Amino acid sequence: MNTQTPVSWTNRWTFILAATGSAVGLGNIWKFPYITGEYGGGAFVLVYLGCILLVGVPVMVAEVMAGRAARANPVDAMLGLSRDAGAPAAWGFVGLAGVVGGLLILMFYSVVAGWALDYVWQSLTGTYQAQSADSISENFASLTGSFPRQWLWQTLFVALTGGIIAAGVTRGIGRAVEILMPLLFVFLLMLLGYSWLNGDFVRGLEFMYQPDFGKLSREAVLVAMGHAFFTLSLGMGAIMAYGAYMPGEHSVGKTVITIAALDTVIALVAGMAIFPLVFANGLEPSSGPGLMFVSLPIAFANMPGGMIFGSLFFILVSIAALSSSISLIEPGVAWLERHGVKRRWGTFGAAVIGWLGGTACIYSGSFFDLLDHITANYILPLGGLLIAIFVGWIMQRQTVETAAGFENPLYFKLWTTALRYIAPVGILLVFLHSIGLLDTFMQLGA
Ligand code: TRP
Repeated sequence: MNTQTPVSWTNRWTFILAATGSAVGLGNIWKFPYITGEYGGGAFVLVYLGCILLVGVPVMVAEVMAGRAARANPVDAMLGLSRDAGAPAAWGFVGLAGVVGGLLILMFYSVVAGWALDYVWQSLTGTYQAQSADSISENFASLTGSFPRQWLWQTLFVALTGGIIAAGVTRGIGRAVEILMPLLFVFLLMLLGYSWLNGDFVRGLEFMYQPDFGKLSREAVLVAMGHAFFTLSLGMGAIMAYGAYMPGEHSVGKTVITIAALDTVIALVAGMAIFPLVFANGLEPSSGPGLMFVSLPIAFANMPGGMIFGSLFFILVSIAALSSSISLIEPGVAWLERHGVKRRWGTFGAAVIGWLGGTACIYSGSFFDLLDHITANYILPLGGLLIAIFVGWIMQRQTVETAAGFENPLYFKLWTTALRYIAPVGILLVFLHSIGLLDTFMQLGA
């Protein structure tokens, strides 16, 4: 281990921007608002926040730490660390599953990102300006019904992703996030201001923050946890791959808290930018994945400056998607690169697989839904569970302590407790709950 010339981020902030760029994506702006709408608002948000804090943050620290300790891509990191700990090499499969998982996510992710690009084009050219609600929903239906139109944008999106990855870690990913992320923050704040001035802000806030636990279904809890993993980019080694390039001297804990806080705040702010506009136009937030592509454009079409802010919004979404998708293939590309495949060719291979899978998602909506459902709700939490067990129980405590670099022993203790007990038990409980077994056990016990 540690023999390869270390590639590294320019500084600590580049790592924070890259990891935040990975975390903040379609998950925050497209998915979080619509699942919050579907699963009833406040109570869902509360469960989601609990999952972020109790499960997501500890697992994220574990991923960054493992990547940095091994200074390698997730496959070789898991292999190397398990060898050091005297554990079976089968742990390498966790890294491999991550590489595959990233490609599976890229498949449906690039389709939605393609829709966002299409909407950038449409809003800049004024297609839905002053259109009726009906014609805007027809427009979305015709986009999702048109193979060539979706395919064009999806291809462009995958090509952009590949271009950044092929340019390398420092010059590609690092430079891209240094430009994209500040833009994203500024655009989001502008949209929040717009929504505050033009939307029904109070109703938006009530909807997001007033918990009604009666609406919290079994499935909602599973979805909340799955989303916590999805939004923080956990469970498949993306953050581990980025951690491998993190300079050695900084505290992992503080860095991770910063990233998780930024991701969470951005999801909440995205909700606060979207829901008030939706409510102000008498629309319902529970309209599923179309929330962003139908309800929101209807809202923009009816509001002062809607074209400008609508364009801004879809540019923002595209930026967020791009800075995330690069982290979906970096683990695989870094793995291939370490085994002698030129970065350019590794990127090409990964991009082609993602692109072909995306093409399949365009053909078949049920393949799209299947990939979304199994990656977010099963593969990522399961990957997170295994990583928590590995770092919490298998790796030597001393190695972990040194690599995590907590300054305060109390924080280290808190983290290990969360990682060894809270995260694994929490993930298992949510799984059992979602398939109804938890209720059965409780009835048996009573
Ligand atoms: N976190 C991103 C989002 O919220 C998606 C994403 C990027 C991701 N990289 C990942 C999800 C790795 C899981 C694993 O849109």
